[in-house]
Order: sequence, then structure tokens, then C-alpha cells
Amino acid sequence: MNVETLRYRNGKLEMIDQRVLPAHFEYLPYDSAQSVAEGIRAMVVRGAPAIGCAAAYGAALEAVRLQALPCAEFAAELAQGLAVLAASRPTAVNLFWAIERMRRVWRECGAAAPAEVAQRLLEEAHEVLAEDIRINRAMGAHGAVLLADGARVLTHCNAGALATAGWGTALGVIRSAVEAGKKISVISDETRPFLQGARLTAWEMVQEKIPVTLITDNMAGHLMAHGEVDAVVVGTDRVAANGDVANKIGTYMVAVLARRHNIPFYVACPLSTIDRNIASGAEIPIEERDAAEVKGFRDCQWAAPGVNIRNPAFDVTPAELVTGLITEKGVVLQPDRAKVAALFG
Ligand code: MRU
Repeated sequence: MNVETLRYRNGKLEMIDQRVLPAHFEYLPYDSAQSVAEGIRAMVVRGAPAIGCAAAYGAALEAVRLQALPCAEFAAELAQGLAVLAASRPTAVNLFWAIERMRRVWRECGAAAPAEVAQRLLEEAHEVLAEDIRINRAMGAHGAVLLADGARVLTHCNAGALATAGWGTALGVIRSAVEAGKKISVISDETRPFLQGARLTAWEMVQEKIPVTLITDNMAGHLMAHGEVDAVVVGTDRVAANGDVANKIGTYMVAVLARRHNIPFYVACPLSTIDRNIASGAEIPIEERDAAEVKGFRDCQWAAPGVNIRNPAFDVTPAELVTGLITEKGVVLQPDRAKVAALFG
């Protein structure tokens, strides 16, 4: 299966509208920083690496849109566009990583004309996308050896092709193990409230004919207690310098359960998701999303009007619960500050 989560067509960024999967498969077009930022905020595109790719195109397409302006106006408006992108979602560090990468390329253009800057930024966005797939393939190769033939692997949220430029991080590890000839089956947590597991992970696995069983989030402990889970592999939105892992809300619960049942808990983590400026998970900004996501789904409302709602979209799993970080540079077992720093050495 070759899902193109994002693609560049006819001068526009096209992104699969992940809000309506699996019922509908459609691309929406984007041609400015503002529109891409809105696509990220509304979760048309989601998943840390995919958000990074979208932001890179948002920056490039903004430069293309502004390229006829005089240099000073071009610079002021492009800087404003980058600020709009940076405000779209707070937790996935790939967003800020991609914006910083585009800013660096812009700086390197020096006094070049706006049209030249725009061209250079567009080339860089293409490279961010292509590089993401190469990185996922490398993580897949390192991670696949950790899974035994016949392994039943639980995952939470969607860290698949849809969360990246292609192949996936956590699901990339599973795909690579299957490609290597192993029989792997997946247990997909539904992932309340946005249902990335039910709507996206299950869809990806069904498309690819990798056996998948969907469970609600509160069933994971029962399955683990009955010996039905051999390993957990999840993705991440931001890893702190000490190895603490922010990922979709509910991941922490899964990690605690995995430790209780002696099940390895792996995190597929491209280096672009490691934030060395943040000492520990306590400093990771956690997005709080709209109460409507918890009160019901689409037109169906099940909670009493007037009830108080909390909707933190991510949680932090302490490094001590992580069996290993699977990166494109290899697997870091029992991650800590020194081992994370060594990845960049
Ligand atoms: O809110 P989302 O859907 O953007 O959250 C996505 C996740 O939490 C993923 O697990 C994470 O971004 C890793 S994706 C390879």
C-alpha cells in the first residue's frame, strides 16, 4: 500500500482529510501558510512527522504566494506566515523543527530575490517529505528485529503512513517486520476521543491485510493479563532530553500496564521528535482540545449538557517505563539523558 498522506500537485499541497476516514478518502488542497495552519489545527493532517511535512510546505507555499512583493514586505509577511504555522498545535515538536529548518534555509539564501527564496524553500519541503520516508524505513529495519515471529503487537493512536509522509513510525516497524517475513498481528487501541486507532490504524492495517483486532482503550489491561499481548509499539510527539515520551493521551496508561505485565514497551522516535531543549517531560506543552470531542462524536451527543469536561490530547510516559526508543540511528534501550545526548554526538 502506498498511501500518500501529503503530496505536491499543480503548485498546491494536497492532504488526505483524516477527519473523514475511513468513510471517505479525499484530498483537500492548500496553498498558503494560513490554510495549512488551519488544516493542522483542524486535524485534516495529524501525527508529528506529517505535521512537520505539512508545515514545511506551508512555509514554502507562503513564500511562493508572496514572491512578487518587494524584499522587505516579502520578509515581513513570510515571517508572519511562519508564526501562524507555529501557533497551529503545541505538542508535536516536529512542527517547530520543520519551521526552524525552513527558517535556516531562508537565512542561507542571504540577499537572494524572493522568487529564488521561494524556489529554495519548495525544494527543501520536497526533501523534508522524502527524508521522512527514508527515516521511517531505517527505523523499521532497526525495530523489526525486536519483534518475534508471531508477535501480537499492541499500538495506541495512529503512528502509521497517515501520521508521516509514508510507511509510518510504529506501524513502520510492524510493516518492516511483516516485509521481513514475520507473522505479526496488531491490536489497535481505539484511542478516545478522536479515534485515531479505530478510524486510521485499523484502516491502514486492513488495507494492507495485516491482521488487526480493534479494542476499546479500557480493554488493554485485560488482554495483557491474559497473555494476549507480546509487545507494545507506539509513536511519539516529543521526547525530552531525559527520554520522557509525550504521545497520544492514554499512552502512559498502556506503559504502566505493560510494565506490570513484563511486556516490552517500545517507542518509534525519529530524531526530529527529540527536543533537547526540554529537560524532562514535565516541560512538554500538552494541548487541551475542544470539550466537544469528549461530549460526543459528530452529531451524537452522549454527555449531559453543563457537565465539566477535560480533554488533554497527550500524556507523558516517564523514561523509566520505556524499554527502548527505536530511532533511525538504532535502538536506545532504557533511554536516559546520556543515551539520548549520544544520539546527537
Ligand atoms: O493528535 P494526533 O493525532 O496528531 O496525535 C498523534 C500521535 O499521538 C502519534 O502517536 C504521534 O504523533 C506519532 S506519529 C508517527
